[in-house]
Formats: sequence, structure tokens, C-alpha cells
Amino acid sequence: MEKIEVKAAATVYNDVAELAQEDKMLMDKAIEARAKAYAPYSKFKVGAAFLLENGAVVLGNNQENAAYPSGMCAERVGVWKVGSEFPGIKIKKLAISAASENTKVNKPVGPCGACRQTLSEYEINQKEPIKVFFMGEVGKIVKTDSLLSLLPFSFDSSYL
Ligand code: THU
Repeated sequence: MEKIEVKAAATVYNDVAELAQEDKMLMDKAIEARAKAYAPYSKFKVGAAFLLENGAVVLGNNQENAAYPSGMCAERVGVWKVGSEFPGIKIKKLAISAASENTKVNKPVGPCGACRQTLSEYEINQKEPIKVFFMGEVGKIVKTDSLLSLLPFSFDSSYL
């Protein structure tokens, strides 16, 4: 038997004002995208902004459906826009922001498990880490330097 340790590292910023200019700009875009989310059922709006290596910024937000499971998270709406509009272009950074009509979201909201899995496919393919910044509506921002910190022991094509 052997015990192993998996490292997950993150940086926590106290406020958007602490972010570097480019990162703050990207978070502002995520907030813009969040405002346009279609979330009439959960009232929980999420925005995602992807910065690509060619400078393009691609936005996504959650799109809900009366048949609940037919809806989709902001991160996957966004990353599939990247994959379909910019195939082969690397993603440098992703910023995520979430807000609710029911409560003030004051802690960082990380991507759900399915979104982490989806995003990791893109990180693996591009062979360069994607920096992920996530926050609620106000308060702290968490940054990870790679999807690996968010998804240890993940499934990938090497198992197939
Ligand atoms: N949601 C996202 O857009 N991203 C996540 O990572 C977590 C959840 C959305 C899905 C649903 O529309 C709403 O938030 C409540 O779960």
C-alpha cells in the first residue's frame, strides 16, 4: 500500500481591485455575461468569460429550460462556443461570476463537476494550463493556475 498526495493550489484575492488589469477586465466581461443569463427557474445567474491566445474574449452564461436537465451551465455554453468558433485556438484564462436573485452570493462559486470535466478536455488538448478565476457577486476571488487543481484523478482519453 502506498499513500499519495494530490496537490491543489489556489490564490485567493480579497477583492476584484486586487486583480491584475487583464484579469479584472476578464472578470468584468464575466459579470456582463452573467447579466444576460437565462435563469428563470433557479434565479441563479452565472457568467463565464474566456480569454483566448489570439486576444478574443468569448462569453457564456447559463441557459435554463422548463425541462430542467435540458439547461446548461455558463462554463459549458462558453467553452463550446470557443470550441466551435475558434477550434485549435488556446484558452489562456477563464473568469466566472455568479449571482442570485434570492441571496447575495458572497463566496467564490467554482465550476460544477461536469464543467470541470468538460474544461479539462480542452486544457489537455491544448497542452497548456488554463487559469481559472471564480467569484460570487461580491467578495473573494479564487484563482487556480490549472484545471488540474480543480479536478484531481480526472478521467481522460488515455483510459479509452
Ligand atoms: N450553474 C452554472 O452555470 N455553472 C456552474 O458551474 C454551476 C451551476 C448554473 C446551472 C443552473 O442554471 C444554475 O446555475 C443553478 O444550478
